[in-house]
Amino acid sequence: MKGPKSKRSQWVSALVGNWVGIFGVVVAVCCLFVELFLIAVDLFQGFRQPYMGILIYLIVPSFVWIGLIFGGVGAWLELRRRKKLTAAEARDEASGERRTRQLVVALACTSLFLLLTSLGSYRAFQVTESSEFCGALCHTPMKPEYTTYKISPHARVRCTECHIGPGASWFVRSKLSGLYQVYATVTNSYPRPIPVPVQNLRPAPETCEQCHWPAKFFGWVELRRQFFLPDKQNTPWNIRLLVKVGGADPTKGPVEGIHWHMNVGNRMEYIATDESRQTIPWVRVTNRQTGAVTVYQSKNDPLTPQQKTLPVRVLDCVDCHNRPTHIFDSPYTALDASLWLGRIDPAIPSIKAKAAEALVKAAGAVSQAPGIALIAEKLSKGYPDYQDQPKIGQAISETQRIFRDNFFPEMKTDWKVRPNNIGHYIWPGCFRCHDGSHVNETGRAISNACNSCHIITAQGGQQPETMSLQGLKFDHPGGEIPPEILCNQCHTGAP
Ligand code: HEC
Ligand code: HEC
Ligand code: HEC
Ligand code: HEC
Ligand code: HEC
Ligand code: HEC
Repeated sequence: MKGPKSKRSQWVSALVGNWVGIFGVVVAVCCLFVELFLIAVDLFQGFRQPYMGILIYLIVPSFVWIGLIFGGVGAWLELRRRKKLTAAEARDEASGERRTRQLVVALACTSLFLLLTSLGSYRAFQVTESSEFCGALCHTPMKPEYTTYKISPHARVRCTECHIGPGASWFVRSKLSGLYQVYATVTNSYPRPIPVPVQNLRPAPETCEQCHWPAKFFGWVELRRQFFLPDKQNTPWNIRLLVKVGGADPTKGPVEGIHWHMNVGNRMEYIATDESRQTIPWVRVTNRQTGAVTVYQSKNDPLTPQQKTLPVRVLDCVDCHNRPTHIFDSPYTALDASLWLGRIDPAIPSIKAKAAEALVKAAGAVSQAPGIALIAEKLSKGYPDYQDQPKIGQAISETQRIFRDNFFPEMKTDWKVRPNNIGHYIWPGCFRCHDGSHVNETGRAISNACNSCHIITAQGGQQPETMSLQGLKFDHPGGEIPPEILCNQCHTGAP
């Protein structure tokens, strides 16, 4: 009478024979049910909420596993206890036929389970690759980079395409450092601000250049900038520049201009003496055809003997385009755009100066919320008797928007710690090398003539009359510029 049924029921009863087993069974069954339901919804309809993927393919399955482990442990404990009691029953061996049947059932279950988990793992892989996973899951630490990314030219390029790129070794590297990052997030021990990753960033040929062909000929690119002086009238002043981007493909256009640095016939290397690569006293250009080497060194601050041992880096896209996507505008830059677009009325006296002051004050708050409140308080106090109060309200909400998009006090992150190396206005940028004091052994300097990188076609008040393709002499609104002072020594982006 001791057939297969009693054996199975013995196992089942062992599973629910103690509380550990019951707990495991309940958790596993419930989670499996939830999981199947969520997968079905995901397949047929799809979730828009980024966290759902993480829930479905990472969190719920791990609870199924936990349930199964508890069930197994519970049953094992129970069986061991019973074994001691009924040694005779244990001796009752199953027949060969029954064993085969059990084996088939076990194999079928295992295959089904493996199929489901591999589907799950594939989705888990996709989830950890998504920008939402990188940006939104680690809410506080990644907020500055995620926010700026979503409003940048690369908003549709996944984080991993710039930060990891194709190939297995970088994938493993990133997942390993990712594990540490998850640990740092959970224990709240990550640094603020997050350090710039240039040292560990994968070289541009394996990331940027997968989409952008380095030699592509761009020709000249027009930049139009509208400024407002930080004075009582918010005096408008604008400039139009033709920037000589050029290219390096000799079959499509002359090899010249700014992307000449990318010329395949040259190799450009440099030594930076600081982490964020803002000080570059040494540059070396090697002509690949002739092998000729030219070294340029800064007269003002030459390499010390210890600095000569610092690593030499090959110049690539990211040395100029270091902010292709995480762009943190300075108060003045952001306010210029808002005033230009009429999002803040330039008729409000001194509004640029006052809004910029409010932004700088708010940047010192502990987090975004008190900063936003502080902006409202400061600006409404600044204009108690201004006749058009709705315009003040509009200026306040626009200044608050600028703050939300560019200032992240909880991460101590804003334009001050995130230099942008394109240009030379607020940060040294091109003038890290093109400052007129980097010379070769014959004393010739890397050019800093204003016309070598761009020509000014128009400049002045609201609608400049003169338009020139010869290139105008820069008419600096702040008066004559002493030649030895760089733009960013006076212009810091804020009062
Ligand atoms: C178009 C390429 C690109 C994309 C897409 C991109 N990044 Fe970056 N990211 C960079 C570059 C380049 C730097 C290095 C900046 C530097 O060296 O100054 C960087 C730096 C960072 C830093 C260091 C802090 C900083 O601002 O320098 C973090 C954190 C970061 N990225 C996270 C992300 C996250 C999260 C995403 C997706 C939501 C993302 N990145 C998408 C190119 C990219
Ligand atoms: C997955 C493809 C992809 C990768 C990788 C990529 N980009 Fe882009 N990039 C684009 C696209 C798409 C645009 C937008 C083109 C447009 O709308 O005109 C763009 C635009 C740009 C622009 C022009 C931005 C502007 O203001 O209009 C620059 C500069 C640029 N990328 C540099 C980089 C750099 C530097 C990297 C590497 C850190 C990089 N890109 C990586 C696809 C990519
Ligand atoms: C020496 C600095 C420098 C290097 C190196 C450099 N660029 Fe540029 N690039 C510029 C400047 C300056 C512009 C002009 C646009 C601007 O001022 O914002 C530009 C413009 C661009 C544009 C936009 C052109 C347009 O039509 O708006 C793209 C895309 C671009 N670069 C991609 C790259 C890629 C990819 C690399 C690496 C292979 C690279 N750049 C290397 C300085 C550089
Ligand atoms: C790491 C140093 C370094 C940085 C940073 C740098 N350059 Fe250069 N650049 C050089 C050197 C070196 C030369 C070659 C000078 C020579 O041989 O006369 C050069 C040459 C040029 C040329 C002349 C190319 C030709 O047609 O002969 C232009 C234009 C130029 N750079 C623009 C820029 C711009 C714009 C930036 C900033 C976005 C920039 N550079 C950043 C080092 C640098
Ligand atoms: C090594 C190349 C280079 C040289 C030399 C150079 N510029 Fe520029 N300049 C740039 C680039 C690149 C930009 C565009 C920056 C951007 O895309 O925001 C720029 C932007 C500007 C702007 C617009 C300000 C802004 O960033 O919005 C002004 C004004 C300007 N340059 C004036 C000058 C004057 C005056 C000189 C001579 C003293 C000069 N430049 C020399 C490369 C150069
Ligand atoms: C000695 C300090 C000093 C230097 C160096 C300097 N500027 Fe100015 N700049 C001023 C002053 C002062 C004003 C007048 C308005 C103000 O207070 O910002 C001004 C105004 C401007 C403006 C009008 C918008 C604004 O913010 O007021 C632009 C654009 C500008 N400068 C560009 C440049 C460029 C580009 C360079 C480098 C080639 C440069 N400046 C170098 C002091 C300087």
